[in-house]
Amino acid sequence: MKVRASVVSELHGKWETKEIELDEPHAGEVRVKMAFSGMCHSDEHVRTGDISQAPEVLQFFGVDSMFPLIGGHEGSGIVEAVGPNVTALAPGDKVAVSFVPACGRCEPCASGRQYLCDLTSMTLAGPMMSDMTWRHHLDGKNVNRMAQLGTFSDYIVVNEASLVKIEPWQDLRAAALISCGVSTGFGSVVDRGAVQPGEVVAVVGCGGVGSGAIQGARIGGARAVVAIDLNQSKVDRAMKIGATHGATSMIDAAFNVLPDLTFGRNADMVVLTPGVLTGDLIEQARSICAKGGRIVATAIAPFDQNSTELNLFGLAMFNQALLGTVFGSANPRFQIPKLLRLYEKGMLDIDTIITQEYTLDEVQKGYDDLEAGTNVRGVVRFD
Ligand SMILES: NC(=O)c1ccc[n+]([C@@H]2O[C@H](COP(=O)([O-])OP(=O)(O)OC[C@H]3O[C@@H](n4cnc5c(N)ncnc54)[C@H](O)[C@@H]3O)[C@@H](O)[C@H]2O)c1
Ligand SMILES: [Zn+2]
Ligand SMILES: [Zn+2]
Repeated sequence: MKVRASVVSELHGKWETKEIELDEPHAGEVRVKMAFSGMCHSDEHVRTGDISQAPEVLQFFGVDSMFPLIGGHEGSGIVEAVGPNVTALAPGDKVAVSFVPACGRCEPCASGRQYLCDLTSMTLAGPMMSDMTWRHHLDGKNVNRMAQLGTFSDYIVVNEASLVKIEPWQDLRAAALISCGVSTGFGSVVDRGAVQPGEVVAVVGCGGVGSGAIQGARIGGARAVVAIDLNQSKVDRAMKIGATHGATSMIDAAFNVLPDLTFGRNADMVVLTPGVLTGDLIEQARSICAKGGRIVATAIAPFDQNSTELNLFGLAMFNQALLGTVFGSANPRFQIPKLLRLYEKGMLDIDTIITQEYTLDEVQKGYDDLEAGTNVRGVVRFD
């Protein structure tokens, strides 16, 4: 069938709507009619080359470049058709996508760490992970999909491991945001950072992921949540979803917020969720982190970023921990339904985070607005 999808065709190219030839699902695959797709910063990381790989690695995936690529990895929709051997999903089911596949059988999945599922090694680029053949074609050629998903598309065909079934009454728009950004931020604080009641948490970067982190801190019992963003309007929005204090840089927080708030002890946890992680931010975060505190690195850095500023004397003598995280170190099949229930109970605010809806043809405009600082989260609404 022919579908419309937003594609970036070259490094630093624009998001453009293209007609894609989409094949029928093979064994273990599912076709979903998309309802909503959130516009996470990670898609921009592919467009700008931060998420990439060495040519030899790409060759291993059977491609010579990350492009062309169908964007989008945060979304929700309704199952329309299933291929052979799909038993857990049926047409009509509501689903959220997961950029981390969860096969349920590999060692990480079997040991309760779906966020490390071995199938994630296949999600960068290349053919379907089911059987290494292609379902998506643009002008007669095979096309990559962001995280094996490519949710900026009227319909997607994906492996069933990339889908999480949700309840028929659950909200598809909220499910879309929870499927990546909100879950990742929430888990960064609750699952990876293991927030304790009464702690002080600083969240650096208050976009979609940071908004999940702020609410994870609030729900996890933090006594104070410091929202830090270079953009004052993001700080103001953060105060509406649970932040108790705001600052426009880590230095601002170090001088004007943390001394009184923590009696000079600094933040128990500093979560890094800026748009792009750079090496200088690690030491800045450590310098506002308390003795015995945790620094959680959630944001994505350029793939060849090997150097960082970090005072190793302070790290050891203050007994601090630097923790990386993917998907907030949570299991998608557990975390996404759990956060949807918190949304239903009015405990997790998604609606305040969604600043604007766009059509599929407006994906570039949505990312221009993100760059301009006017979006916390833009969302594509499909017909
Ligand atoms: N680890 C994971 O599994 C995972 C999952 C999803 C997204 N991410 C990454 O998380 C990051 C955040 O994603 P997002 O969609 O929320 O991005 P976003 O662009 O919506 O938000 C980033 C925010 O950071 C602010 N910012 C930028 N530099 C800053 C700085 N030095 N100090 C303070 N604030 C700063 C921006 O003003 C913006 O409000 C991205 O790098 C994204 O790729 C990681
Ligand atoms: Zn994302
Ligand atoms: Zn697995």
